[in-house]
Amino acid sequence: MSETHRNILVTSALPYANGPIHIGHLVEYIQTDIWVRFQKLHGQTCYYVCADDAHGTPIMLRAQQEGITPEALISRSSRQHKGDFAGFLINFDNYYSTHSPENQAIVEKIYIRLQAQGYVHTKTIEQAYDPEKGIFLPDRFIRGTCPRCKAEDQYGDNCEACGATYSPTELINPVSAISGATPITKESEHFFISLADFEPMLKKWISSGTLQPAVERKLQEWFETGLQSWDISRDAPYFGFEIPEQPGKYFYVWLDAPVGYIASFKNLCDREGIDFDTYWDKDSKAELYHFIGKDIIYFHSLFWPAMLSGSGFRKPSAVFVHGFLTVDGQKMSKSRGTFITASSYLKHLNPEYLRYYFAAKLGSGVDDIDLNLEDFSQRVNADLVGKVVNIASRCAGFISKRFQGRLAPQLHDSELYQAFIGEGDAIAKAYEQREYSHAVREIMALADRANQYIDHHKPWVIAKQEGQEAQLQAICTQGLNLFRVLMGYLQPILPKMTNQVEDFLDAAVVWQPEPLLDSFIHTFKPLMTRLQPQQIEAMLETSKAEQREIEQAATQQPKAAANSAEKSVAPLKPIVDYDTFAQTDLRIAEIIQAELVEGADKLLRLTLNVGEENTCNVFAGIRQAYPDPKVLEGKLTVMVANLAPRKMRFGVSEGMVLAAGPGGENIFLLSPDAGAMPGMQVK
Ligand code: MSP
Ligand code: ZN
Repeated sequence: MSETHRNILVTSALPYANGPIHIGHLVEYIQTDIWVRFQKLHGQTCYYVCADDAHGTPIMLRAQQEGITPEALISRSSRQHKGDFAGFLINFDNYYSTHSPENQAIVEKIYIRLQAQGYVHTKTIEQAYDPEKGIFLPDRFIRGTCPRCKAEDQYGDNCEACGATYSPTELINPVSAISGATPITKESEHFFISLADFEPMLKKWISSGTLQPAVERKLQEWFETGLQSWDISRDAPYFGFEIPEQPGKYFYVWLDAPVGYIASFKNLCDREGIDFDTYWDKDSKAELYHFIGKDIIYFHSLFWPAMLSGSGFRKPSAVFVHGFLTVDGQKMSKSRGTFITASSYLKHLNPEYLRYYFAAKLGSGVDDIDLNLEDFSQRVNADLVGKVVNIASRCAGFISKRFQGRLAPQLHDSELYQAFIGEGDAIAKAYEQREYSHAVREIMALADRANQYIDHHKPWVIAKQEGQEAQLQAICTQGLNLFRVLMGYLQPILPKMTNQVEDFLDAAVVWQPEPLLDSFIHTFKPLMTRLQPQQIEAMLETSKAEQREIEQAATQQPKAAANSAEKSVAPLKPIVDYDTFAQTDLRIAEIIQAELVEGADKLLRLTLNVGEENTCNVFAGIRQAYPDPKVLEGKLTVMVANLAPRKMRFGVSEGMVLAAGPGGENIFLLSPDAGAMPGMQVK
């Protein structure tokens, strides 16, 4: 293909740091990753950046609830998110955090420029306030009786029973979801950006072909109802960036979140020597695309371009909106087990199954997509295993056994090969336009043709005929070459299988390749196994179990602590003097990682941070009390740091963590009050 070289920067929305990655999220990350891989495969310079969205009230409160600092919460979350994305082969060029120095610097720069241009104003507003907790309450944190249908325990902004929307002041008997106190109304000065000032610019940007038609229509509606000023500040206590020269005032999380795109890219540029301005300068010729879900259109197509243009940055070339994922036709549900996290999927299923299934369903529109679990296994088995892999497995054996792995010097049917190559441009166009379902249909039609070719020439019959060696070798060589062309087309969707195929063929898998002739291949090993229905069952079970544990951990109900016989208090040990006690070096330790130990049903392996990046390894007999070790990650605890190391069957234990309780399920790890830092001495 003879297009000019492109510089492209691509983002996916930044997932919140207070929740796990689930298969709904993955619609977006897989969609984006496929597009980026496609661009790179075609020689474009394309960077894909993302980050954790680390700020805001929910994250602050969640950390408090778990008894850890927000920093510990977001660093745990970042580790888990990165692991999940790697598991699904999402190939970010950089995965960063909005809680970063780069982000703070750029946020401040943007704010100061907007202010200098007169786009920022202040206004005193009234807001619900929790007098017990001393905190302004976001609508989501107020519960009460719906003013319309009188359903109890509804959110402050909308009723899940009747669908009414209202303001929290209209709720009957409102209470703070944090403390249970009755909220009062309190005044406070907030900072606003006047969105209406940007209306002409936005209208022009929107109608310049940057948006999908359905999204453009949505925006037209919003214009008709009038653009409100945007409240960009929140009062302390808040986890975020403080507004320069405004002590106690913080930037609202949605102001610094999209700036996280720029910051993540800046961090990459600094590391790799990429020219930042090429991509973000006001007159940049580079392309900038944001992949997002339909719930965050307002932020990305009104606030974001306004912020960018008001502060002298370039605007996005386009925003690519996708719909929401349903499972078996319904919203993902925690109780049905269809709220499937990335990690519970990966425990049971191959990530490329899901990458393929989503690709087979995704178009460029904003329609929701359904993961029908029945259809999922059928489709993966029929298409990937039954059609694509089958081509290779039907041909490879003969080449290995009869020709010592050597391919024929010529194709058997060059015309057919050229027909496969010829489809490449149409398939490329479909990828470029994010019409993956279209691309997949074309590729599978080719796979059918390859199988028909093999059916027709029957290598298994020819193999038994004498004097037909050359014919047999040519037919199988043809089959394997068609397979290689198909893998080139599938590469953006199936990067792992592509690597396996490259090993097997001992040749690169590329787009529209020259045929592979007269070279040696390796012995064929099954590239993908069939998806078994039991695997799906097992995944749903894991999902439900995971959910139960999360709920237990969240309510922090002390596990039936003093149950019956254990109630009696153990007698005191003999007195020791202070010096003897003081020989024990107790330290605050952060649990960075907690894992099951194979073959030891009482132990967990803990990786502890004991300050200044020093880590140590401890085996703790607390597994029965913490069956899901992940709940421990990010927590602070106390450890005996100068205990003689002990060699165990599984490795060396370099200390002990402190816990109370008789044992078994009744073990309670100690944790310090907020403020303690890893490495601090406990005295
Ligand atoms: N933190 C914000 C985005 C800030 S971007 C500057 C956010 N986070 S999120 O974790 O809730 O969602 C991240 C992305 O995943 C969003 O684009 C969202 O639309 C998408 N999805 C979340 N759940 C989804 C489904 N069930 N289905 C498809 N996409 C979904 O929003
Ligand atoms: Zn209602």
